[in-house]
Amino acid sequence: MDKKQMREAMKSKLAALEKPEYEQKCFEIAKRLYALAEWEKADVIAVTVSAPFEIDTWQIIRFAWISGKIVCIPKCDPETKQMKFFKIDNFTYLEKVYAGLYEPDPVKTSFVQPDKLHLLIVPGLLFNAQGYRIGFGGGYYDRFLSKFTGKTVSLAFSFQLQNNIPVETHDLPVQKIVTDKQVINCQT
Ligand SMILES: Nc1ncnc2c1ncn2[C@@H]1O[C@H](COP(=O)(O)OP(=O)(O)O)[C@@H](O)[C@H]1O
Ligand SMILES: [Mg+2]
Repeated sequence: MDKKQMREAMKSKLAALEKPEYEQKCFEIAKRLYALAEWEKADVIAVTVSAPFEIDTWQIIRFAWISGKIVCIPKCDPETKQMKFFKIDNFTYLEKVYAGLYEPDPVKTSFVQPDKLHLLIVPGLLFNAQGYRIGFGGGYYDRFLSKFTGKTVSLAFSFQLQNNIPVETHDLPVQKIVTDKQVINCQT
């Protein structure tokens, strides 16, 4: 299978999770994330707004707000393939863009420089234990990570971990992966 087929197969697997199992696994992952020193120390969290089949980040955003953290959400530019993060403190400041995704409305939110983001939660569909990932195919995070110096972590259901991930020269790994079963330290 190539990257594209692996993405489609994993999307189907994710969509097939029963709600109680999905909720429990998302809860386990969130609890493990909150226990990390990287989370504890981060005053500014950068995270995407999850689509229905992805690990729920809405609860993570709510918990970050309750914990007094600043939450920044990316806005992707499909022309330049770059993304910018905007500080958001209210879900209604999100707007629906292409493919039903939610992004910050730049009129209602404020731009945050990449070096102000302490912890970047990197989305993905498949991961290996070295922290390499298959994302959604835009390469946005590979581009962003090439200049990013903060902490990085990905969230994954344990079945999203595989060792046969094709890695290309532009692909960049995350530092840690938090699953419903464990925390993987990808830097050896
Ligand atoms: N740092 C970069 N500079 C330029 N192009 C990049 C960079 N990172 C990724 N790309 C391009 O983005 C596209 C998607 O990358 P890919 O790794 O397949 O997606 P994803 O990481 O979202 O799964 C590829 O065509 C790749 O060449
Ligand atoms: Mg990539």
